[in-house]
Amino acid sequence: MKTRITELLGIEVPIIQGAMARIADGKLAAAVSEAGGLGIIACGGAPAEWVREQVSIARSITNKPLGANVMLMDPGAAQTAELLTELGIDVITTGAGSPANFLPMWKEAGIKVIPVVASTALAQRMERLGVDAVVAEGTESGGHIGELTTMALVPSVCSAVSIPVIGAGGIANGRGIVAAFALGAEAVQMGTRFLTVEECSIADAYKERVLAAKDSDTIVTGRGSGHPARCLKNKFARKVRSLEADMAAHGDELEQMYLGSLKRAIDGDVDNGSMMAGQIAALVQERKTAQEVIDELMDQARAFGALDLEQMAQANASRGE
Ligand SMILES: Cc1cc2nc3c(=O)[nH]c(=O)nc-3n(C[C@H](O)[C@H](O)[C@H](O)COP(=O)(O)O)c2cc1C
Repeated sequence: MKTRITELLGIEVPIIQGAMARIADGKLAAAVSEAGGLGIIACGGAPAEWVREQVSIARSITNKPLGANVMLMDPGAAQTAELLTELGIDVITTGAGSPANFLPMWKEAGIKVIPVVASTALAQRMERLGVDAVVAEGTESGGHIGELTTMALVPSVCSAVSIPVIGAGGIANGRGIVAAFALGAEAVQMGTRFLTVEECSIADAYKERVLAAKDSDTIVTGRGSGHPARCLKNKFARKVRSLEADMAAHGDELEQMYLGSLKRAIDGDVDNGSMMAGQIAALVQERKTAQEVIDELMDQARAFGALDLEQMAQANASRGE
């Protein structure tokens, strides 16, 4: 299947596995790339040795295009930016800021640069900088989030920029992909859908919570400190929310609670960890391999996307039959 994004990135299907801090490692990213999508290694907060090791693991599994994510607010962002250039990564997505400082180096190395944006104004700024595409990520997403929904953000960004737009946030099946394309996207990025795949190394207990989640089972923590993040409701998230009601009194305690909270979830502490996941966890009900997920998504999207509007309505009316 061809879109501007599949052509730009040299991938077979317009599906990107979004960066997931401390979760999206070389093994997961390689499995997604090998399956025809684009896998992304999450470098946020990771030491250089880890990044080097994960790129090497991924390269030992696949020769297909491979991406990495740089969190620009990280103190180590400049070092990671240089290391990824040296390692010859094919695509870099960026979060939390502007990649302006690194863009000349990355472009000179032939790296495709794709910032994640949560507003139309930022997408326009990125286009003026000369990036290759943007990921427009709605607030339904797991992890750190903006305010706008995917439904409002993606068409707004698409009508404001000419570079290709990748829709993200709340997409986990073929219908979601078709919907994102209807809003103007030329590819999709998913995080939550890939949390439960076999190649994802989070603890089984975390996966089980994602598989069991209903649509109302996520909550946003961190609004009080200005860094909102969506995670599954649990003891940790509820306590954070209650303490956030009075930041002046509980700011220090909250800071302590956040330390290592994602790592605790990854290791299986489903009470005291931050189990980041998006609203669409409700649709994630089966464990599969990355290849099986991508094949299923494309089969569903092709079947649904081949219909005209009337047929779509009929298919909608007959769902569950
Ligand atoms: C556990 C988790 C961690 C995430 N960490 C990052 C990250 O480090 N950098 C980033 O740009 N996006 C991060 N994201 C966002 C994803 O890359 C992706 O855009 C998002 O999950 C899409 O929405 P969805 O969860 O509804 O599929 C994270 C998402 C999750 C679920």
